[in-house]
Amino acid sequence: MRIITVASGKGGVGKTTVTSNLGLALTKLGKSVTIIDANITTPHLAMNFGMFYNPTTLNHVLREETKTVIDAIYFHDSGLKIIPSSLDVNELQNVDIAKLEKVIKEIPYSDFVLIDSAPGIGREAVSAMKASKEILYVTNPNIAAVTDVIKINEVAEKLGLRPLGVVVNKVTGRVHELTIGEIEELTNLPVIAAIPFDADFEKALALGKTYLEINDYSKAAIEFMKLAAYLAGEDYKVPFTTYLKRVRSWFSWLI
Ligand SMILES: Nc1ncnc2c1ncn2[C@@H]1O[C@H](COP(=O)(O)OP(=O)(O)O)[C@@H](O)[C@H]1O
Ligand SMILES: [Mg+2]
Repeated sequence: MRIITVASGKGGVGKTTVTSNLGLALTKLGKSVTIIDANITTPHLAMNFGMFYNPTTLNHVLREETKTVIDAIYFHDSGLKIIPSSLDVNELQNVDIAKLEKVIKEIPYSDFVLIDSAPGIGREAVSAMKASKEILYVTNPNIAAVTDVIKINEVAEKLGLRPLGVVVNKVTGRVHELTIGEIEELTNLPVIAAIPFDADFEKALALGKTYLEINDYSKAAIEFMKLAAYLAGEDYKVPFTTYLKRVRSWFSWLI
């Protein structure tokens, strides 16, 4: 079981987006995957799947109100398993995030467990790191977000986590952006995916779906599939139909 924290120093860079789409991409490759929302103070993971009210959540598990973590696992149509946190602020009472490590150990076997972390190096984020063995960084191509990766990687190193690399998200290619080479040099980590900025991510969120459910042919979608294959140690050949779908989308406004 690969237990990977999806982390960033800065908020809003795309951790939840990467956790949900990477989870779905790995599922599409035939892997069993569980994703868990460890950002208990501001949880958004289940929202990315249109799940707004979940009777049993990670909060209940951490408060030891359930017999087992299985009570808080929800199945997505794809087969992906989701452990949400509660949107109700009252359900934060008596929640001890430090118990996350124990909870993660109780998750039924999955090839991958992806932990959607809170940003930074506070108690929530560190609890997610302590519960995992590997860490995947998400950043944007700007100096603030990249500086924060450097900081968080120092903490992760001290905790003995294996860094998998950096996912650069919201790439537009404009001249003021840091390049992949610059990010690799600054962080001393490999950039293993570059996801373009695409307005369809916000559209997907509004629709209560993950991006890959509404678009599986764009550059961003292909990057997620390649990232999933890379993490699974597999080759990924873009299916010819993906390009056909993309070409068809260019003409969709005609129909
Ligand atoms: N590649 C992208 N292009 C455009 N918008 C994106 C992209 N990735 C994420 N977003 C949007 O940015 C916002 C923050 O993303 P989110 O995954 O919630 O960040 P975090 O979990 O790091 O706080 C969301 O509204 C999401 O839809
Ligand atoms: Mg988030």
